[in-house]
Amino acid sequence: MKFEIALSLLLVVLVGITIIQGCNGKAVQFIFGDSLSDNGNNNRLSMTLAKANLPYYGIDFGNGLPNGRFTNGRTVADIIGDSTGLPRPPPFLDPSINEDVILENGVNYASGGGGILNETGTYFIQRLSLWKQIELFHGTTELITKKLGKEASDKFFQEARYVVALGSNDFINNYLMPVYRDSWTYNDQTFVEYLMETLEKQLLVLHRLGARKLMVFGLGPMGCIPLQRVLSTTGKCQDRSNKLALSFNKAATNLLISLEPKLTNASFKFGDAYDVVDDVIRNPYKYGESITLK
Ligand SMILES: *[C@@H]1O[C@H](CO)[C@@H](O)[C@H](O)[C@H]1NC(C)=O
Ligand SMILES: *[C@@H]1O[C@H](CO)[C@@H](O)[C@H](O)[C@H]1NC(C)=O
Repeated sequence: MKFEIALSLLLVVLVGITIIQGCNGKAVQFIFGDSLSDNGNNNRLSMTLAKANLPYYGIDFGNGLPNGRFTNGRTVADIIGDSTGLPRPPPFLDPSINEDVILENGVNYASGGGGILNETGTYFIQRLSLWKQIELFHGTTELITKKLGKEASDKFFQEARYVVALGSNDFINNYLMPVYRDSWTYNDQTFVEYLMETLEKQLLVLHRLGARKLMVFGLGPMGCIPLQRVLSTTGKCQDRSNKLALSFNKAATNLLISLEPKLTNASFKFGDAYDVVDDVIRNPYKYGESITLK
């Protein structure tokens, strides 16, 4: 829970600095992500082991019942949207989704357990990987083109905001677990390179499908989440996992810097999350938190 609170805080700060540019009130967002952004997709996957349908998920949100978010309150995506004045996009698997809902609100494709790589999170049996989420977004563009015609549809998708926030599962539910093949195929450096090659292809496809204003969010200190701390006898943060997060963030920063100028009309930015979350963990009192795991 503390990690989610930390992330929420970081987003507030981050959003303050980064995304408030050029909001004309009519734009919507398309969200690609994992459990930090999932607002109900996994709850509608019949076979998944990663569901947010237990108490106390949702306790600080709406009626306080589990609502499909893997958090007590709002998700990262909710917070980004709320701070920019953009509507909160409904989950893709919500049965009420149709063309009009999409045109008014956008779509959230995020799925708990999902990663940049297809092979991430297989242990959960069902989750939407980033490739799968992009495939679903492709379907959305076709649906809207059918309704609006090509020109208006292109304009709609080019004016929308895009958030891509995945990567921690590629480490925590893949590379760092010996049951996964990637853990013995790659080393720390080549695995990050493999993630970047994959992410680059994915961003190119998103651009081809219309994405112009896009933010990729980096990883927080993932070695400090409870699942990682229990691996050590002292409960301390896993240094190696934190180093991997930093190396992912550095590589992603470079990827976006090199990619943006090559893509027509693109504003593709990297949002660094690490230092803010790290500060919350180290100095919880500064942020009004009385209990934390140091
Ligand atoms: C990943 O999965 C998608 C379907 O979701 C598939 O189209 C694609 O070929 C897969 N890519 C790789 C590299 O396995
Ligand atoms: C780039 O932006 C201009 C102005 O909005 C638009 O007319 C043009 O179609 C865009 N081109 C691409 C490839 O996005």
